[in-house]
Amino acid sequence: MERNSKIFHCLTAQQFSREFLHEICDLADRIRDIARTKAGMEYLSSILNHKRAMLYFVQPSTRTFLSFYSACQILGIRCAEVRDPKTSSEVKGESEEDTVRTFSSYFDFIIMRHPKANFAEKIAQLLNKTERPVPVINAGSGKDQHPTQALLDIYTLRRSFSHRGGIDGKSVAFVGDLLRGRTIRSLAYLLAKFEDVKQYFVAPPEFQIGEDILKYLDSAGVNYEVLTNFKKIIPHVDAIYMTRLQDEWDAVDGTKARFDLEHYSLTEQDLPSLKPDAVILHPLPRRQEIAVEVDADPRAMYWRQVRNGMWVRVALVAMIFSREKNIVEYYLNNNL
Ligand code: NCD
Repeated sequence: MERNSKIFHCLTAQQFSREFLHEICDLADRIRDIARTKAGMEYLSSILNHKRAMLYFVQPSTRTFLSFYSACQILGIRCAEVRDPKTSSEVKGESEEDTVRTFSSYFDFIIMRHPKANFAEKIAQLLNKTERPVPVINAGSGKDQHPTQALLDIYTLRRSFSHRGGIDGKSVAFVGDLLRGRTIRSLAYLLAKFEDVKQYFVAPPEFQIGEDILKYLDSAGVNYEVLTNFKKIIPHVDAIYMTRLQDEWDAVDGTKARFDLEHYSLTEQDLPSLKPDAVILHPLPRRQEIAVEVDADPRAMYWRQVRNGMWVRVALVAMIFSREKNIVEYYLNNNL
């Protein structure tokens, strides 16, 4: 088994060290360079063509599902999927745990998105006790974590700030439904690993970031501020991370509160006040919180995030199966 790999299960953002983050970003850059030629793509698709992946996505997904699917294709991995639990034996009363254990009997790793918080962690622990403890990748769990989105966000920030000393010393504003947005929670953990990064949490009080994250930031000595006024902070930050209202959770968590979305939206009129070298991020899908006119601004990075997500996921899967040395070797041997 690949137990000696630098990463086996990918479950929470906290599990990544800063060193790991650099390594995965470097590897994603090399993979991109290799992928520019037909020979390179053929090489990449030979690396893991003996492996098969299960994509278990029982929550809606466009980008995360397709980017993992594409990442697997690039590495030659064959995929199967369950996206609707109504088509699996769960309707016959099988527990989710037994369902996932079944996947582990057929596939070499499992990529999963699930509405329950900590579900991927629970499954990883369960599989660890079985004879086939295959790697589990958390592709979004409940309202708590989305570690691979945070990896692609870090990768995008690193590329954006590559000529400005990297991520260290920058300031980032998270805006929107911070209470239920799992991407900002995972990214807040990762940004805490960099030096001197200031984090602003900008939301109405009912939708502010969880106390658990603030406690973590306190213990890590991170400088942060909790704010309500978005427009005031725009001129002062290096990155703005917009998020949508996560109202699909209303029925589950009983939230009735609403806020004036206009106060937490970025429009063309806001662009002149944004620093000339700042960046605008969004995990997508977006609604009105970023006006479509903003897309044409060179500081808008959210469509790049989508593509970066695929490359960082190729790198992640390659690392889970300890193939990073092969990739670097190919890169060097071909003078890329
Ligand atoms: C996010 C998610 O599912 O948490 N989407 C994504 O994976 N890019 C964000 C969201 O749904 O708002």
